[in-house]
Amino acid sequence: MKAIVLKEAGAKDQLSVEEVAKPKPTADEVLVKTTSVGINPIEIKTRKGNRFTDKLLADHPSILGWDLCGKIVQKGENVKDFSIDDQVFGMINFPDFGKTYAEYVCAKPKDLVRIPVSLSAKDAGGVPLAALTAYQALKYEANIKRNTKVLIHAAGGGVGHFGVQFAKHFGGEVWVTCSAEKKDFINKLGADHHINYKETNFEDELKEVDVVFDLIGGDYIDRSLKVLKKGGKIISIPTATNQGVEEKAAAKGCKGVAFKVKPTQKDLQEISDLIANKKVIPHISEHYNFTEVQEAHQSIEKGGTKGKIVITF
Ligand SMILES: NC(=O)c1ccc[n+]([C@@H]2O[C@H](COP(=O)([O-])OP(=O)(O)OC[C@H]3O[C@@H](n4cnc5c(N)ncnc54)[C@H](OP(=O)(O)O)[C@@H]3O)[C@@H](O)[C@H]2O)c1
Repeated sequence: MKAIVLKEAGAKDQLSVEEVAKPKPTADEVLVKTTSVGINPIEIKTRKGNRFTDKLLADHPSILGWDLCGKIVQKGENVKDFSIDDQVFGMINFPDFGKTYAEYVCAKPKDLVRIPVSLSAKDAGGVPLAALTAYQALKYEANIKRNTKVLIHAAGGGVGHFGVQFAKHFGGEVWVTCSAEKKDFINKLGADHHINYKETNFEDELKEVDVVFDLIGGDYIDRSLKVLKKGGKIISIPTATNQGVEEKAAAKGCKGVAFKVKPTQKDLQEISDLIANKKVIPHISEHYNFTEVQEAHQSIEKGGTKGKIVITF
């Protein structure tokens, strides 16, 4: 089969399409023929070199990727929940390697859910990791109720555009920071108030916020604590830049959480149901053929991603 192999840590040209052995499912796994795969910033960081990279390079073939949508073409004898030809999506084998940048992927049924009929297989690969992150952070950590005042940073990207829709679904009043070009996009998703972070300091525009969902980290944590009310909560997800969020928040009488997504089938099913009922609409702004994976990585790296970017097989 064809797969995108990482040769060494480094620039995007370290990704190359190669012929590798097709994986064989165990008795407890299914084999999925890939249709689409979401590209996430963690894969760009792993490609360049982070705490996962050496382990991935030692684990041949070294294939990035966790998001997956495709069709089940083979199943192990113990698999009862799925049938051949089911169209499924999921975040595979996270936080170990999912190896989804490939024509065929082995997956455990607990990582998979059937795709909603309203979503094309070409788009569905862009959903799991970003949507699960936003859903779990906002459902379990933010405890949003009617009129909870929520501020979402980087709302126009993968996690953020899901976050806006989930926060509205849970009843929140949603403030966002994103660029001016994304204002209409983000308003259509339900945001109540938009701050163009390139022109305006969000600290000058709002106060007494109940929850901040921080997708940027660094000084955004210190700045966000200025608008958070006493007893409020900041949930920060970028693992490279959210260190110290708990202590910093505690020092201001707030709660800080360094949040990490978990592979939970129940949550993905709930997300799938929200998509099926048109309560949440994934936005896939760019599709690349898998042979153009370098362009897909470059697009995320240049910043300004609108919704999600996927590669298709
Ligand atoms: N801990 C976890 O489990 C977890 C899970 C998923 C993702 N993450 C991390 O969360 C971060 C976001 O992920 P993502 O997938 O949403 O990224 P993404 O799709 O690449 O989106 C990034 C967004 O940030 C916006 N942006 C950049 N600088 C900004 C600023 N100063 N203020 C407001 N918006 C700004 C960009 O658009 P504009 O500048 O045009 O507005 C873009 O829409 C990444 O660091 C990722 O690794 C962590």
